[in-house]
Amino acid sequence: MNIYSVRMRAADETGHHLSGMERLVLDDDIAMTIQELYQRAWHNHPHDVHITIEKIDQEITQVPVLRIRSGVPTKSPKSLVRTQARQILLDAHIHPDVIDYAFSLLDRGPAASGGNMRGAVLLTKHSGRRLEPDKDRGVRTVRVDVHPKDREHLQRALVQQGFPHPRTQDAVILATKTLWAGVIAELGWSDDPDYTTGFVATKGTYWRFEGIKDAGVNLGGRIYFVEEDADTAELMKRLQQIPIWVMVSTEFARNEGEHSYE
Ligand code: COA
Ligand code: AMP
Repeated sequence: MNIYSVRMRAADETGHHLSGMERLVLDDDIAMTIQELYQRAWHNHPHDVHITIEKIDQEITQVPVLRIRSGVPTKSPKSLVRTQARQILLDAHIHPDVIDYAFSLLDRGPAASGGNMRGAVLLTKHSGRRLEPDKDRGVRTVRVDVHPKDREHLQRALVQQGFPHPRTQDAVILATKTLWAGVIAELGWSDDPDYTTGFVATKGTYWRFEGIKDAGVNLGGRIYFVEEDADTAELMKRLQQIPIWVMVSTEFARNEGEHSYE
C-alpha cells in the first residue's frame, strides 16, 4: 500500500492563481481524489488546471489538529476584532511593533513588488526581520492533509462546533502543520474580496476572526512569526518537504477547553 500526495492548482488566463488543494491518500483513492480536486478547481472557471501525483517515500508524521475558537462575536467592528487578534499575538510574546508591521504588510499586500505573495512571510518576533528568501513568493506549507480515517470526523466536528465553511477546515489543517514546523504564531487572511474572516494560530489553538478586513479588499496573506535565531533552511524544509497527517483527537471531537479569550 503506497501513499501519494495529489495536488491541484488552478489559474486564470493571465497565470494568476485561483485555487489550490492537496490530499495525502492511499493509491486506491487516487482516482476519486482527482475527481474531487477537479470539481474544486472548476468552481472558479479556470483557464488551466494542474494536477500533480507524487509518491510519498517517507514515513508520514501524525500531528493532532489545533482546536478552533472564535476570537470575537459575529459582526464585531474591525477595530475590536484586530485588538483581540493583537492581544493573542502579544500573549505569544510577539513584539508590539512587529505585530503592527504584520498588520500593515497584510493591509498593503506583502509582496516586495506590491500586492499579494504566493506564500507566507517569515517574520522574526522581536526585530521584525523578513527571512523568506524570495519576498514575492514567500514560503508555502505543503505536503499536509487530514488523515483519511479522520476526514469525515473532522468535517462533522467542525459543523457541530459552528465552523461549517470549508475554508476553515483547509486553513486549520495548514496552520496545524505550520505550528508543528516551529512557527510560533501565524496571522492571516484571504485575498478574496468576498471573504473577510482571518485567523491567528498559536499555542495549540486556531482563533477565527470574522471581519478582520473590510469587504471588497483584494489584499491578504499569511505571516509566520519565528524566533530571532530561526534556522530558515530547516524551517522551510519542514514546512515544504516533510509529510504530515493531521489527526483528530478525542478532546477535539468533544470540543473541550476554554472557549473565550479573556
Ligand atoms: N498561491 C499562489 N500561487 C501558487 C500557489 C498558492 N497557494 N500554489 C502554487 N502556486 C503557483 C505559483 O506560481 C507556483 O510557482 P512558485 O513556486 O514560483 O511560487 C506554481 O503555482 C507551482 O507551484 P507548486 O508549489 O509546484 O505547486 P504544487 O503543484 O506543489 O501545489 C498547492 C501546491 C497548490 C497544493 C498549494 O500551494 C496549496 O494551495 N495548498 C493548499 C492546500 C490546502 O488547502 N490544504 C488543505 C488540506 S485538506
Ligand atoms: P488564501 O487563504 O488561500 O486566500 O490565501 C491567502 C494568502 O496566503 C495567499 O495570498 C498567499 O500569500 C498565502 N498562502 C496561500 N497558500 C499558502 C500555503 N499553502 N502556505 C503558505 N501561504 C499560503
